[in-house]
Order: sequence, then C-alpha cells, then structure tokens
Amino acid sequence: MHIVIVGTGYVGLVTGACFAEMGNIVTCVDVDKDKIENLNNGIVPIYEPGLKELIGDNLHKTLFFSTNLEEVISDAEIIFIAVGTPMDKDGSADLSAVFNVASSIGELILKQKIVVSKSTVPVGATFQIKEIIQEQINKRGVQVDFEVASNPEFLKEGAAINDFMKPDRIVIGAEKEGVFKKMKQLYSSFFRANDRFIMMDVASAEMTKYAANAMLATKISFINEMANICERVGADVNNVRVGIGSDSRIGYDFIYPGIGYGGTCFPKDISALIKLGKDNGYNPTIISSVNELNKKQKEYFFEKILNRFNGNLEGLTFGVWGLSFKPETDDMREAASVYVISKLLEHGALVKAYDPKAMVEANSHYFKGIQKITYGNSKYDVLKGADALVLLTEWKEFRSPDFDELKKQMKQAIIFDGRNQYRTFELEKNEFEYYQIGKI
Ligand SMILES: NC(=O)c1ccc[n+]([C@@H]2O[C@H](COP(=O)([O-])OP(=O)(O)OC[C@H]3O[C@@H](n4cnc5c(N)ncnc54)[C@H](O)[C@@H]3O)[C@@H](O)[C@H]2O)c1
Repeated sequence: MHIVIVGTGYVGLVTGACFAEMGNIVTCVDVDKDKIENLNNGIVPIYEPGLKELIGDNLHKTLFFSTNLEEVISDAEIIFIAVGTPMDKDGSADLSAVFNVASSIGELILKQKIVVSKSTVPVGATFQIKEIIQEQINKRGVQVDFEVASNPEFLKEGAAINDFMKPDRIVIGAEKEGVFKKMKQLYSSFFRANDRFIMMDVASAEMTKYAANAMLATKISFINEMANICERVGADVNNVRVGIGSDSRIGYDFIYPGIGYGGTCFPKDISALIKLGKDNGYNPTIISSVNELNKKQKEYFFEKILNRFNGNLEGLTFGVWGLSFKPETDDMREAASVYVISKLLEHGALVKAYDPKAMVEANSHYFKGIQKITYGNSKYDVLKGADALVLLTEWKEFRSPDFDELKKQMKQAIIFDGRNQYRTFELEKNEFEYYQIGKI
C-alpha cells in the first residue's frame, strides 16, 4: 500500500519505518528540513532501540523522506497525521499543527484518500479535520471523495518498535465499512497470530487513547500516594507494592513508586482530558488529582535532598544518574531530571550528570550554556568528589553498581534514589545513607 505520514517525530518515524518494513511504500513528510535531510542520509534524529537499523534496511527502497507534501501525496491511499499536539496555555491540546496539515491535504488531494489521525486528539478533532479538508476542496471548486479515521497510537518510547510490530491492539474509529476494511488490510501483517483489531465510532477511538493514558497515570500517582503515606507511618511501599500486585485484579504493572511520570504524553494528555471534561460541563476529580500529585512528587523528592543538607546546598556536588524521562530513550520532555537539576543549580549546587543516551539533548537544549552542570563518560565518572548520588532514571546499567567503587569516588556515601532501585540491606551493608520513595 502507498502511505504518506505527515509528522516525522517519535510516532511518525516509528510508524513509517514499521509500515515500510512490512513492504508498504511509505513517505514520511516533515517541515523540519534538517531532520529530513539527515534521515535521507540515514541519520536518525532520536534514540529508539532498533529504529536506526530498521530505517537503514528500508531507506530509499520502501521508505522515503520528504519536506514536500505536494510531490508525494498523489499516490498515497492512506495519509496519516502524526504531528505533535502539545499542551496549550489553557491546558487543552494545541491542534494547530494537526489543522495545518489538514488544510494542506485539502488544498492538494485530487483523488480518493483516507486521512487518519494518529496524533492524540480530543474527541471531535477528527471530524474537525474532515471539515477543514472539505472546506479547502470546496474552495478549489472540485469534487474529491475522502474519508477520515481515528487510529490512536499506543506505542511506548523505549520499546516503540516492539510495541508497533506486536501491538496489544489496533483501535480504529471510522464511519464507513470500507475504511475499517482498508485499515484492517494495512495492519493485518502485524497480527497474524491474533486478531487484535478493534473497530468503533470515531469519538470512542479518540477517547480510548485519553482513557488509556489517564488509567496508567492514575496507577502511577496512586502508588506514589501510597508511598507518601507509607513514609509517614513506617511502612515500606516496596513490600506494599508486592502485596497488592499479587492480587490479579490489581497486577504489578505501573505500580512502581518513584518521582512521577514525565514525557510528552501523560502530562499533556491528562491536562487535555481535564479540559475536555470541563468544556463539556463535567469537572473531573480523579484525574485532576493525578496530575497534581505527579507535580508534587518531584517537589517532595527535592525537599528530601534539601532537608538532608539542612536547607543549604551551596557548593555541594551532586552526581546525577539519568536525564531522560524514562529508560531507553533520549527524550527529556517533562523529565523529572529537568526539575530536580534546575532546583539543585538554583540552590548553588554543582551537578555532574550521566545518562546513557540523553546527555547531548540535555547539553544542547535543557541546560545549554549552564556551566554548573557537567557531563561524564560513565556512571562512576560523575561521582568523583560527589556529596551525594541522585538517581532519577532507572536505566538498567544503574541497577547493580559496584558499591565499593561508588564509595571510593564519592566524598559522602549518600544516595537519593528516585526510582527505588536498591535494597536497603545492601546499602546498609555498604554503609550508605540511603533515601528512597515510600520508605523511611
Ligand atoms: N511520543 C510518544 O510516545 C507518543 C505515543 C503515542 C501517541 N503520541 C502522540 O502522537 C503525536 C506525535 O507525537 P510525537 O512524540 O511523535 O511528536 P514529535 O514532537 O516527536 O514530532 C512531531 C513532528 O511533527 C512535525 N511537524 C509539525 N508540524 C508539521 C507540519 N505542518 N507538517 C509536517 N510536519 C510537521 C515536527 O517537525 C516534528 O518532527 C502527538 O499527538 C502525541 O501525543 C505520542
């Protein structure tokens, strides 16, 4: 099938590479000229396990990159919109990029297409896309048939290729039988063993994405709330987690205590869902608290650090492990590290940071030009002379460090663990002062 994907970010790029791998002819379009030029030369702008290889295998065979939608639109049977929908000032989803793309599509299409919204958009947006395209067609005074569909994306950064290749489900919202048929045909190569194709109306498909993210974020904030109570009453949330996770109705997934969720999706999607509820006469209570607690979780963690040093961090050195918002990605959008490091610097501390993939992103964007933060070549490198280690992202390489080496490098044997990676007895054996989430 000929496919065009507009928006070549985390979602568009993974979607394009995976469809191309299955033999479809895919062109990924983006307004970012440098990005497209790099991709045409095999340079992949983001880190995502397996993505570089997948793009390399298919580049200029089944996978193409362009900045010119007009040149590539005519052959496409399906056009995916995968541009960003960031949080607007009022908390809603900013749909300007999505609507810009819809407008361009309306200006350019000459024959039948299915336009699929893969961006996360609030209920009603896919039909707004339809209206915008139709308006542009009407302006040209031509007759072109097209359909719209909603196909929310559920991939997780860090495991995106695997998620796309072996999806738990494909959700399609559409109005016509023919659209479901075509979309099922496109996705059938991804679920040969198991039919996980779920068809529904457009509004429900749009809402499914928000409901899924809201549920997952709720689980995270729930366990963090339990952790905060545990700390105050002398319980250990690590034990409580196992105690509740063993109940099959609850399960172990997404109940790891920590310093909260980050990334592009959860914070902005929860916020957009709250706004959607309010705009439609309903004031959401649960999800409003979910986002609120998530913000506080980072603040509580920083307060722990501050309190340990009696409110004075001036001149202290902190070795920071982890910058990305979660492991296996270089994405730092809404990462806890941005808050915690900014606070450390604000209080006069020096920061030496290490992350397996996100140091370039940190240095070139988030902490650009800030001299009080430096970066190391290894996790041990950044602990030289450190007054404490602050662990912010649970990369695998941080799981079993050589504690003797840590002690050798550090000025003070203190660890603040925002992801509960270690066992207390292990740290006590090694005479570390160990602070984690949900356990005194
Ligand atoms: N990142 C995730 O893990 C994830 C998962 C599921 C769903 N989503 C949703 O998918 C959508 C895309 O997310 P992302 O993380 O891939 O975004 P991103 O910011 O990584 O990429 C968006 C891309 O769109 C491009 N773009 C913007 N306007 C354009 C235009 N008019 N024409 C062509 N290209 C344009 C940008 O240059 C950028 O390359 C969002 O709605 C997001 O909520 C993201």
